Amino acid sequence: MRDLSWAPAVPTPPLLGAMSSATTMCGKRSKCSFSRLEVILIICLVLMIAVTAVLLILHFLTKDSNGKLRYFSSAITPCLNSRKATGNYLLGVGRADCTGPVAEIPLMGYANPDQVGGGLLTRLYSRAFIVAEVDDSRRVVFVSADIGMVSQRVRLEVLKKLKSKYGELYRQDNVILSGTHTHSGPGGYFQYTLFWITSKGLIRPSLNAIVNGIVKSIDIAHQNMKRGRLFINRGTVENSQINRSPFSYLENPASERSRYSSNTDKEMVMLKMVDMNGEDLGLISWFAVHPVSMNNTNHLVNSDNVGYASYLFEQEKNKGMLPGEVGLIPDY
Ligand SMILES: *[C@@H]1O[C@H](CO)[C@@H](O)[C@H](O)[C@H]1NC(C)=O
Repeated sequence: MRDLSWAPAVPTPPLLGAMSSATTMCGKRSKCSFSRLEVILIICLVLMIAVTAVLLILHFLTKDSNGKLRYFSSAITPCLNSRKATGNYLLGVGRADCTGPVAEIPLMGYANPDQVGGGLLTRLYSRAFIVAEVDDSRRVVFVSADIGMVSQRVRLEVLKKLKSKYGELYRQDNVILSGTHTHSGPGGYFQYTLFWITSKGLIRPSLNAIVNGIVKSIDIAHQNMKRGRLFINRGTVENSQINRSPFSYLENPASERSRYSSNTDKEMVMLKMVDMNGEDLGLISWFAVHPVSMNNTNHLVNSDNVGYASYLFEQEKNKGMLPGEVGLIPDY
């Protein structure tokens, strides 16, 4: 990839080596002349500095014109404020399939180009949860999809579709998209080059399935919104994790380690949504576990342990329904 015709000018290939040797050479010579490579490097350096300066200026200008940073919108604070028991919300839950192609498509997670899809073990779903004030002055949608992670491309396309359907109702600052981090879902839905290397480029059918599944789950949640209540709880779950590098963990200071009972975080936080009759609508749980129950020799598309937990809970709560049929929507 490197143009070898440049090589003779400076014998040391690493950039820093080349630049420092250029400086010493320059000091020794009576007349300071630069080789072609040196000129190119200097131009690159100047350009990099210029681009950095422009980006910094742009960054601070936009921040000022907005008055404040908007990363942490107030949209989700109502859920966290512990309201009176009478506090009500409008709640909606929805689930839609986002499986996409399952054959001859690189799987996202282990960065192994040879790990390509060879069939289906479990379907992948997007689960959407909407919480709004009763007067609908504020709302937030949280989506968890059975995919490796959400990409910038997915987010941009979802927001674009939502905008064309709902105008300003679902926006940059009240749509939260998250992936369950399965390592056995189709890849190819990223816009960055690094991910394109292992996924062998952008794979439109994969991207479309994820975007359409997410938007459909939000549509369903949007359509079935009703008054209800939110409950939050936390507790510990034993015997379900391991630390993947106990040796490294021991490098933490003893004073810090003594604050915890083990080398894994056993706490599960759960947000439950119920309607006004006390019927469960859906729940979101947060628990620190890496979905790598399927290793990098697996070729069957599936949602790994996190998606499987959702599936089992849905089956238990929606007796007699097929997987994916509408009912209680949990998300792990
Ligand atoms: C990967 O998973 C397969 C199937 O469960 C198993 O047979 C194999 O031993 C696993 N490989 C490793 C390195 O754990």
